[in-house]
Amino acid sequence: MRKRAGQSALSKGSWVQDGSPQSVIEFQPNTLVAEGQQLGNPASYAASTLEARIAALGSWFHNIQLHGIWTAPNHFLGDFPNVKWKHICHAFPADLAGASVLDIGCNGGFYCIELKKRGAGRVLGVDVDDRYLSQARFAAQTLNLDIQFEKRSVYDVDQIEGQFDYVLFLGVFYHLRYPLFALDRIIKKVRGKLFFQSMIRGSEAEKQWPDDYDFWDMHPFADPDFPCMYFIEKNYANDPTNWWIPNRGAVEGMLRSSGLEIVAHPESETYVCEPRRVQRDGRYLLDLELEGTL
Ligand SMILES: C[S@@+](CC[C@H](N)C(=O)[O-])C[C@H]1O[C@@H](n2cnc3c(N)ncnc32)[C@H](O)[C@@H]1O
Repeated sequence: MRKRAGQSALSKGSWVQDGSPQSVIEFQPNTLVAEGQQLGNPASYAASTLEARIAALGSWFHNIQLHGIWTAPNHFLGDFPNVKWKHICHAFPADLAGASVLDIGCNGGFYCIELKKRGAGRVLGVDVDDRYLSQARFAAQTLNLDIQFEKRSVYDVDQIEGQFDYVLFLGVFYHLRYPLFALDRIIKKVRGKLFFQSMIRGSEAEKQWPDDYDFWDMHPFADPDFPCMYFIEKNYANDPTNWWIPNRGAVEGMLRSSGLEIVAHPESETYVCEPRRVQRDGRYLLDLELEGTL
């Protein structure tokens, strides 16, 4: 869903002041919307203007309805991520009454928007892709929702101030070369619940495994249910940013090994987790591992 270094990057586009009394900013193709940038009053655009402005923000991965106009009506996964949301929305309280939310890899802001609509307080979406961040800012402003979007990698989330009641980490894990490194950083930000979703391939069986294995016993590794991550050296689904795809056993094992307890499994790829054993002697697993004392 994003370009790997060396591929053609998106052009930065440009902003043009149109000279009107309100100095409304016009979109050029691939326009970026900077952090804190106010877009005139997108909530009041006529349908044709809105449609043109949605298109000017490039190709959307999130299909969001903005005053009757859909941002990605021809998505290859269907009405995405609504198709996912309808399975996981019940795992969030209907009234989020001031709860804080961090959405890592927020893309066009679909989940931030849905949770803000449920009354969440501070909502912060982070992503590494300027185009997606621009789309998210545009969508939130068009819907008149106060959501903060910031360019930040998952590997830097532990530098964000404070912890969050809800942390979303959906559809990003398999895009990372260092998945557990990211998960162990994310955990530092979870006060309440982590919503985790990964593409899963291979066995979807849930099995109990022993605490230890005999060095000479090769049988576990021939068992397709054994926790495993598939490494993608080149492309998967035409996407060179897919690196590690876990089976179910690996997803659940990694979540547990990071000190999380799985408290709900609302659909096959999504887990709701709580941080129960993320520290040892008051120190996070990540810090112990990095200093070699885990
Ligand atoms: C498949 S999309 C998932 C978007 C959204 N979370 C969802 O579930 O619909 C992956 C997103 O992760 C973002 N991403 C990839 N690598 C990232 C990183 N290192 N840090 C933060 N976001 C990243 C991409 O830019 C993209 O928006």
